[in-house]
Amino acid sequence: MIVNKLIIKNYRNFKEAEAELNDSLNLFIGENGQGKTNLMESIYIASIGRTFRQNSENELINFNENKSSVEIHLTKNNYKVIIEIRLEKNKKKQVFINGVKLDKTSEMIGILNNVIFTPDDMKIIKGSPVERRRFINIDISQIKPKYKYLLNKYKKITTERNMLLKNYHTRYENKDIIGIWNDYLVNTGTEIILYRNEYINKLKKYSGDIYSNLTGNKEKLDISYYSNIGPVTDREEVKTLFYDKIKKNFNNEILRGTSLYGPHKDDLTVKINGKECKYFGSQGQQRSAVLALKLAEIEIIREEAGEYPILLLDDVLSELDNKRKSYLIEHIKGIQTIITSTDYHELNALTRNFNKKIFYINEGKISSILD
Ligand SMILES: Nc1ncnc2c1ncn2[C@@H]1O[C@H](COP(=O)(O)OP(=O)(O)O)[C@@H](O)[C@H]1O
Ligand SMILES: [Mg+2]
Repeated sequence: MIVNKLIIKNYRNFKEAEAELNDSLNLFIGENGQGKTNLMESIYIASIGRTFRQNSENELINFNENKSSVEIHLTKNNYKVIIEIRLEKNKKKQVFINGVKLDKTSEMIGILNNVIFTPDDMKIIKGSPVERRRFINIDISQIKPKYKYLLNKYKKITTERNMLLKNYHTRYENKDIIGIWNDYLVNTGTEIILYRNEYINKLKKYSGDIYSNLTGNKEKLDISYYSNIGPVTDREEVKTLFYDKIKKNFNNEILRGTSLYGPHKDDLTVKINGKECKYFGSQGQQRSAVLALKLAEIEIIREEAGEYPILLLDDVLSELDNKRKSYLIEHIKGIQTIITSTDYHELNALTRNFNKKIFYINEGKISSILD
């Protein structure tokens, strides 16, 4: 899959902007606050239908406008595909594929696969379990269409079950129906756990190899899945463990008025040479770990989708030392990539052997520069 062109209108600080991309490398240079991340975000939303930033949909539309659109032209298996997202203030967004409106946004998933790497991704290591679950959820959603549906369903189930737990002693009928909600929790929760386990096993394999490579086999990266249900094996065993946990801890759940066990408590453990990276890793090791996870993500998508995703490197090069920079640049060969940076000279020098296109972003306007 190759993104050939993007046309954005009234998106964030862009009025009307267009860019025809190179099949291999594209550099977008601009000062801070000019629209580099906004541009990346527009491609990202054409991939999974929502932003990676913590913004509402209304905030994606230019402050002075009511409507916005993002149009991406791509080539997939020799077919031309146009993805169009139309946003309108306080209305539901609309997605069109080759002019046909989709019933559900989730139907767009899998057409434009992308991997984005931003300085914020350091949160995968340093942040709370919420950040790591978010990272895993976004990744799996992109390759497993059913996963997002399961997540939404699970969220509704825990909300409902928590209500029942809270009022367990005051509402008599709750005693009769809690069993059904236990079943819902265990059934849907188990499916999520199994998806995550499969994904994390792949991530472990790829990121482990990449990290060893990156450190010249001097250090070992080991990531693993943590579920408070217990060790994850097969479906039946997970269900048994899950039922066991909620049976044994039921009184505690009633006392606390909340569901204490299940994938909403999951985490990802990242270790370097056997020590937890979050607490014992140096800044450099933490950066290498995130880099390895991101490069692993690319390989998993290639394995699942049969083609490389587009890689979006948003202002991350300045975060990496020379060794890691060169490693990263070496590994994007054959993958369509967009890199943003404030530093033209450094980036141009780093990518001197690439066939590339260079753009300049200033106040929400894109112009191409000759190499
Ligand atoms: N809805 C919006 N309408 C207009 N401008 C916006 C909107 N959302 C963000 N911006 C502006 O976009 C700019 C930031 O763009 P960004 O892409 O993050 O910059 P950078 O080039 O540093 O990555 C800020 O000036 C911000 O005010
Ligand atoms: Mg930025």
